[in-house]
Amino acid sequence: MIKYIESAEEKSSIAREILEALTDWFGIDESREQYIAEAAGQPCWASVRDGRNEGFLCLKETGKATMELAVMGVRKEFHRKGIGRQLFSAAKEYAVRNGYEFLQVKTVREGVYEDYDITNAFYRSLGFKELEVLPEYWDEANPCQIYVMSLKTAVQTMAARHSYRGTFLPDPVPEADLLTIAKAGMDAPSGCNKQTTDVIIVNDPEVLAQVKAQIDPPVAATAPAMIVVLTRRINAYRDRCFAVQDYSAAIENMLLAITELGYQSCWYEGHITDNDRICDKIASVLKVPEGEDVVCILPVGKAAEEVHAPVKKPFDERVRFNSWS
Ligand SMILES: Cc1cc2nc3c(=O)[nH]c(=O)nc-3n(C[C@H](O)[C@H](O)[C@H](O)COP(=O)(O)O)c2cc1C
Repeated sequence: MIKYIESAEEKSSIAREILEALTDWFGIDESREQYIAEAAGQPCWASVRDGRNEGFLCLKETGKATMELAVMGVRKEFHRKGIGRQLFSAAKEYAVRNGYEFLQVKTVREGVYEDYDITNAFYRSLGFKELEVLPEYWDEANPCQIYVMSLKTAVQTMAARHSYRGTFLPDPVPEADLLTIAKAGMDAPSGCNKQTTDVIIVNDPEVLAQVKAQIDPPVAATAPAMIVVLTRRINAYRDRCFAVQDYSAAIENMLLAITELGYQSCWYEGHITDNDRICDKIASVLKVPEGEDVVCILPVGKAAEEVHAPVKKPFDERVRFNSWS
């Protein structure tokens, strides 16, 4: 299981435990101690099974847009079991969710040591691309290969999106970002191009408070902005209405835009369309005309707490090639 480590003490102790077991890669005492000391202040993940730490990974910010894979290590007996990949995946999702655009990692250039050739191949298999070799960054015997990865791709953003139900920071969301999110929604496909989805962006604190006052029990109570999603249930042709599919596509596009911009959200539909019809009360506050239904609210804001990925069924149970069996 991949675990996000909160406590500075635990980060250092895990780093020490793993790095001291990997002296082939971390044999120089001084630099190993530096990794251990720095781990305490870095976002850190550990792979834990039966109470034992199998490996760990730390990130560090090297610029406003970039995080570096600062250090990672997996005990030798657990190599080739996908642990490094799982640790990396958790770290990458964290970087995407926090709005970073690039990940970088440094290692000794391919062709110098066999162990590092494996490391190079591993980074490339994760999707890293060669950026530059700096021959004297460490010393002549250890030419530094810098790898880089763009985090602003649709596929990365999809993997990083999770429903967030925690508290939000109070910082207002810039109007330009809210418009980018709404535009992503309006860019979604719709059955027969009927464009049955509309949105109302709520960022005025007074209106927002009135909307929140309708939501009982409360959700998204601390969100600094909200996108209210509306649908017009008209037929696309004959008796075929695709309004649900239309607004679902629009909502997913908006959730992805929200994630890519470094905000969090949650698709709140069940909560507001239940028997107590919170949706109709919100519609009334927002003066929504007849024929338009409120179907969903999407809070928008920066997370004040850690974002957790839910447990999903194993991929192989849900995805098949060519036939069911
Ligand atoms: C149609 C629909 C309705 C949803 N309604 C709610 C809701 O009312 N409240 C809520 O907390 N989450 C709601 N969700 C979010 C799901 O619970 C969430 O997507 C699911 O647990 C998977 O987690 P993930 O979004 O992090 O992948 C809804 C999602 C969908 C697609």
